[in-house]
Amino acid sequence: MNTLSPQSIKAHLGTQTIGKEIHVFGELDSTNSKAYRMATEGADEGEVIVADRQLRGRGRLGRQWLSPPGVNLYVSIILRPPIAARNAPLITLMGAVATAKATKGISGLQPRIKWPNDLLINNKKIAGLLNEVKCREDKVEFVVLGIGINVNMTLASVPEQIRSIATSLREELGYDISRVESLKALLQELEAEYRAFLAGESERLLRQWEEFSQMVGKLVEMRSFHEVIRGRVRGIDSDGSLLLSSSDGSERRVIAGDISQLGELS
Ligand code: BTN
Repeated sequence: MNTLSPQSIKAHLGTQTIGKEIHVFGELDSTNSKAYRMATEGADEGEVIVADRQLRGRGRLGRQWLSPPGVNLYVSIILRPPIAARNAPLITLMGAVATAKATKGISGLQPRIKWPNDLLINNKKIAGLLNEVKCREDKVEFVVLGIGINVNMTLASVPEQIRSIATSLREELGYDISRVESLKALLQELEAEYRAFLAGESERLLRQWEEFSQMVGKLVEMRSFHEVIRGRVRGIDSDGSLLLSSSDGSERRVIAGDISQLGELS
């Protein structure tokens, strides 16, 4: 079943928090923008906003997120975790781990998380996360967890410059996947990871993130604001920053940027 509706998504969903209200739209500017507006107006934790198509899907670093109708998942989830603002990046890591688990569960394929929160299969982008946080003083008021998964998009239908860097589950598997079942799997994984996170299992979350990232020990180049750093990945810090030992011998914590792998280290 490929038609997204609150009824089809809620059937046998089995979650308590994530998806207690599901709002499905034919088209939106961006599910994140809609969710942010709804959260500002008091929408509850766990409300989910889904669109069949986005007219101005947003990616990280001001990029556009390709959002054609009828084929992919564009979803935003409102969370209101009772946590300090400095811990908000952990919600992003949690979202990436849940998306990786759901993608693996749906397809049997092994996705890899590319820091900070891109999901790759065979080195091509299958999903991305854009998380927006509203804080009041030093507390999180709400988080909009925005997730896009390329489910049934064909590469033949996308602009040429995207073809070499993106993929979809359909492209990798050779057949269509149900968007409804994919979304359910995502919401179920998010519920499980969010519960574990609220129960204080953030160490486990960081280790799972590192397992999916397979970056620890790798030599990378990081383009961050106005500098390029080369170094070996040490791991991820509890605030979501990437720990690098750079080639000049210094230890670096990087909070934003684009990473590419240079090669294996012995
Ligand atoms: C990235 O990889 O740069 C992040 C992409 C995030 C895309 C999703 S689709 C649903 C939600 N709404 C948006 O406008 N963006 C996110």
